[in-house]
Amino acid sequence: MEGFQFDADAFLRDSKARLKFRYSHLIKPVFDGFDALLAEPEDYQALWTFDVDQMEFPARKADPDDGLVIRRGEKNADPLMPAYDVKAVMQYTERVPYLLESRGVDMTRHLPFLEACAELLHANKTAALAMAKAIDARKGSRLFPAILRSTEHRMRLLCYPPQAEGTVIGKKHKDRCDWTIHMAEDFPACHVKGELIEAKDDDAFVFASSRFEQHMGGLVPTAEAQEHEIKVPPGSPWANRPRHCAVTFIRSDR
Ligand SMILES: [Fe+2]
Repeated sequence: MEGFQFDADAFLRDSKARLKFRYSHLIKPVFDGFDALLAEPEDYQALWTFDVDQMEFPARKADPDDGLVIRRGEKNADPLMPAYDVKAVMQYTERVPYLLESRGVDMTRHLPFLEACAELLHANKTAALAMAKAIDARKGSRLFPAILRSTEHRMRLLCYPPQAEGTVIGKKHKDRCDWTIHMAEDFPACHVKGELIEAKDDDAFVFASSRFEQHMGGLVPTAEAQEHEIKVPPGSPWANRPRHCAVTFIRSDR
């Protein structure tokens, strides 16, 4: 993969690393397109929300998982979980354009947004395949075919309203995919094991998540899912303006 840089040895040692690939030209169209969607009337926005689990398994009380989800601090469907924070989330999977088409949603105005999302997800998947090959070559694992087969890769765009210094937006947790590729943000706020990380230009930050730990636990004793939290750092401009962020969850199919 041209322009691709990934230090597999450092990643296998630390469960996190810098990841360089060409994607920065897609960030502006993605964030601009997300804002354009958020400027649409609420009834149109609601057409972009899909609960695929609910469609496939009507008995299941799952959260909406594809497309646009607006959180306004409402109660979580799971009573054991805390109330939601306030944010707008666009979850782009390869099936989103199909779901919109099936519902008869007029996407004309947002085709450039969907195109940029598709390209960015594709760039992430290509980078993940190259990562998988580098790791397999060192460890004899079978990540490459598992990542290649998967249709579960998910790009998540987030927009949070202004937040006061020190506010914890996302409590400490581990992600449930193999790798989280942290690609872009207006200003940094993601703390991975206490370290404030930053993504800019073509430099993403990738860290191991729980599925990778399960996958590699026997092969790499240090393949540890990275606990992280989203917190407003001191001096952040977040107090005065919203924050956009783009991440991709790479998930193997096994
Ligand atoms: Fe997370």
